[in-house]
Amino acid sequence: MKVGILTAGGDCPGLNAAIRGVGKTLLLKYNARVYGISSGFLGLIENDVRELTEEDLSGILTLGGTILGTSREKPFKKSKHFLQEIDKPAIIKANYDKLELDCLVCIGGNGTQKTASKLSKYGINVIGMPKTIDNDVFGTEQTFGFHSAVEIATGAIDRLHTTANAHKRIMVIELMGHHAGWLTLYAGVAGGGDVILIPEIPYDLELVADYLRDRQARNKNSSIIVVAEGIKKGMSAGHYIATKLSKLVEEQMRETVLGYIQRGGTPSPMDRILATRFGAYTAHLIAKGNFGQMVALQNGRITSVSLKETAGKLNLVPKDHPLIKRALDIGTCFGAKFD
Ligand code: F6P
Repeated sequence: MKVGILTAGGDCPGLNAAIRGVGKTLLLKYNARVYGISSGFLGLIENDVRELTEEDLSGILTLGGTILGTSREKPFKKSKHFLQEIDKPAIIKANYDKLELDCLVCIGGNGTQKTASKLSKYGINVIGMPKTIDNDVFGTEQTFGFHSAVEIATGAIDRLHTTANAHKRIMVIELMGHHAGWLTLYAGVAGGGDVILIPEIPYDLELVADYLRDRQARNKNSSIIVVAEGIKKGMSAGHYIATKLSKLVEEQMRETVLGYIQRGGTPSPMDRILATRFGAYTAHLIAKGNFGQMVALQNGRITSVSLKETAGKLNLVPKDHPLIKRALDIGTCFGAKFD
């Protein structure tokens, strides 16, 4: 059995743990040959592939980034990388055949799962593994990378509290998440954010301003506003909110954009565990010939879902999510009226 593995899209903590999980299970349990494809789908177009041994997979569990490299190359879209127009899916299929691969493991977020699903129509046996700090892959309750990012972002909010307190300031922190507010909601609640603004809940800044004025009236001299980058397109959401709100409440605000720090560094223990479980399960699916699937976490158990049914859909925060309800109970403001 020959299996190719690639990591595509933005990186996140836990990618190496996932590569190790699937690779080691394939090598040790199924005596398979494992191939690492460089820089996501780019490596399969340019045939940049190397065989991975057990040694390659040792000592990488705790490493951030990905030993394979990644890229945002989308085989079904035109890219600046290639000067001439080429039939990328056909080249990928030709290289897959040349390598005599039995399966291609695609570790990535939404875009990657969509590409994997399309490639299966070209006769490529694919299995998807969901990763992203955004936690927005449909079909799984959690992606690896999310837990680590919540930890990093919560730590940052904790630190903002002390400086905000010292200066009696209102601080705005912008976290990642273009479409989904999972990271902002979880880190916002864990970090005791007073205001949490996410893309799924349309906000009214007048309501936020009223809330902040009320806090001031109650001698709460500092406030933390946690916003997802996706609440404002085309510019920094943190900057936008700080500028607008400071006029409404007539007070200066400071903004922090946490940025790529949220994606870097060693994975949390929970992400290492989830990535390892996803990895080993992926190898079992391959051995059974159960292709066209994405491994997933459902009700605490590892299972798989059909890529045909899930690829291309987003997992967004529902407005009635229990964590939103509990945050409302303790007085958190989401910039909106709830029934
Ligand atoms: O998909 C994860 C993510 O971190 C998003 O939250 C973020 O907006 C995006 O990737 C940015 O990544 P890049 O700049 O690498 O395209």
